[in-house]
Amino acid sequence: MERTFFAVKPDGVGRGLVGELLGRLERKGLRLVGLKLMQVSEGLAREHYADHREKPFFAGLVSFITSGPIVATVWEGREAISTVRSLMGATDPAKAAPGTLRGDFGLSISANLVHGSDSPESAAREISLFFRTEELVGAARPEESWIYAGE
Ligand code: RTP
Ligand code: MG
Repeated sequence: MERTFFAVKPDGVGRGLVGELLGRLERKGLRLVGLKLMQVSEGLAREHYADHREKPFFAGLVSFITSGPIVATVWEGREAISTVRSLMGATDPAKAAPGTLRGDFGLSISANLVHGSDSPESAAREISLFFRTEELVGAARPEESWIYAGE
């Protein structure tokens, strides 16, 4: 069973789309194991986006992700990392397919609503960056195993 980190960025929170965006993941069958509304500090933003520090858009990325509260979440399910990435759609919402989160709700490449881990390594890194182990409620619940995505 795989885990991934997923965040609703400040534009998604500000536009009142938290329920809609998290609801899409819930309805897919992924299981929510961690959730918090939080203000990202500049230090956390720089660490989260460390892979992009040489990019020309890095400063804009840090200032955008710290511009208002985000909703940080962790999800569990079969192939959760790639499943969430495909639900999100392409990085540029103008090019994202209809039916995806970015395809249905966005148009700006910087304010593109959501973030999702792109590999098992980034999922592990991002989950531990945003959550302490005891904040994740992921103990197996065998009586509810029928809701576990695609087992
Ligand atoms: P994310 O990390 O937010 O889930 O997005 P992603 O994997 O689809 O895209 P990534 O390549 O990791 O880029 C991180 C964020 O940087 C902004 N970006 N701007 N101006 C540009 O060409 C450009 N390219 C990327 C986007 O907001 C993207 O989400
Ligand atoms: Mg990325």
